[in-house]
Amino acid sequence: MKIAVIGVGYVGLVSAACFAELGHTVVAVDNDPAKVAMLDAGHMPIHEDLLPELVKRHHGERLHFSSDIREASSDADVIFICVGTPPAINGDADMSYVEGVARELAASLHGHKVVVEKSTVPVGTAEAVQRTMLLHGASPNHFSVASNPEFLREGTAVSDFLFPDRILLGVPNDRTGKLLTELYQPILDGSYYQRPDAIPGDTTKAAQLIVTSVKSAELIKHASNAFLALKISFINSVANVCERVGADVREVALGMGTDSRIGPKFLTPGIGYGGSCFPKDVLAFRSVAKQVGYDFTLLTEVMEVNEDQKERFVAKVREALWTIRGKKLAVLGLAFKGGTDDVRDSPALELVRRFVEEGAQVTAYDPAAMSRAQATLPPGSVTYATDAYAACLNADAVLVLTEWPEFADLDLARVRKLLKLPIVLDGKNLLDPNKVKAAGLHYYGVGCCASPSPLPVSSAPAPRVAVETAAA
Ligand SMILES: NC(=O)c1ccc[n+]([C@@H]2O[C@H](COP(=O)([O-])OP(=O)(O)OC[C@H]3O[C@@H](n4cnc5c(N)ncnc54)[C@H](O)[C@@H]3O)[C@@H](O)[C@H]2O)c1
Repeated sequence: MKIAVIGVGYVGLVSAACFAELGHTVVAVDNDPAKVAMLDAGHMPIHEDLLPELVKRHHGERLHFSSDIREASSDADVIFICVGTPPAINGDADMSYVEGVARELAASLHGHKVVVEKSTVPVGTAEAVQRTMLLHGASPNHFSVASNPEFLREGTAVSDFLFPDRILLGVPNDRTGKLLTELYQPILDGSYYQRPDAIPGDTTKAAQLIVTSVKSAELIKHASNAFLALKISFINSVANVCERVGADVREVALGMGTDSRIGPKFLTPGIGYGGSCFPKDVLAFRSVAKQVGYDFTLLTEVMEVNEDQKERFVAKVREALWTIRGKKLAVLGLAFKGGTDDVRDSPALELVRRFVEEGAQVTAYDPAAMSRAQATLPPGSVTYATDAYAACLNADAVLVLTEWPEFADLDLARVRKLLKLPIVLDGKNLLDPNKVKAAGLHYYGVGCCASPSPLPVSSAPAPRVAVETAAA
């Protein structure tokens, strides 16, 4: 089938490469000419496992890049909208990018097209897209609008796309449903997995095809992200109780997560969720509910717990170091999660900004997100290290803020020698607390395993000397 993908970001580029991998002919369009030129020259605009291999495999044959939406869509049977839907000032999703695409498409339709929302959008968007296209001159016989929300996760996006739990199609009629099902047939019938060159993945569970109304599909995506955010805020709250009563949240999460009704995923506490999806989608879902007269207060609580979690981590740093001003902090991880270079709404960056504002000297390292972080943080505010060990040199404490696997395997004896003070604050519960403590380091996790503070807790500040004594 011939496909156009509009918007070559984290979702659009992965979708385009994966549709080409499934045998379709794809033109991927972006209105950022620099991005298109970069891809045409064989360079990747984002860090995503397996993506360079797939793009290289199909570029120039089944996968093409363009900055001309009209040219790209004129030949396509199906057009996927994958542009951003960032938060507007009032908390709604900013739909101007989607609207812009709808307007451009209206002017360039020939023959019948299925226009598919893959971007995460508020319920009712398909109707708005349809209205906009009609207003701008498209004939109602020339297109239909469907919803196919994307559930991929950055860091494992290619595998998530090709080995999904489910494929969700929100369709206005059977004909559209059939066409879109055909697109995914190699995944649904498993024929893709029989190919000798298929991307390796878990084939034990077949993807479920779920066909719904367009509105239900739009709502499923918002509800799913809001529920995952809720699960994170829930376990963060449980972790906060654990800290007060001396229980271990890792044990609690294990006990909870083995119940098949609950499941083990998204039960790791930390410094709060972030990224380009959860914060804006929770906000947008609450906004949608409000607009139709329902006050979704549960989501307000989810967001408040999430904000609070960052404050708690700052308090933990203060507990460990007494004051932050003048301290040298080694920060490991800047991306909003491991496996990606994406720093949009990254809790790690927010914390770095906060520590800098409070007068700390931050030296940071991230395996993939350094240049994006550098472009986001105020110039000169942070020193960027060449690796995790270089970041630790002479630091008063090391802070783990992103769950990169390589940080879990650090040589802790080496870290201990490099640090000025033996303090590890693990904002992601990534390290093994026993190993950290065995290396002579004080460990602060989330909801478990805190070493007794090296500082006198109840009495007045005595600190610097006391800390250095503890370090000796
Ligand atoms: N990133 C994720 O993990 C993820 C997962 C599932 C769903 N989503 C949703 O998918 C959508 C896209 O997210 P993303 O992270 O890929 O965004 P992104 O910002 O990485 O990419 C969007 C791209 O669209 C391009 N664009 C904007 N307007 C355009 C236009 N008129 N014509 C052509 N190109 C245009 C931008 O230049 C950019 O390259 C969002 O709605 C998001 O919520 C994201």
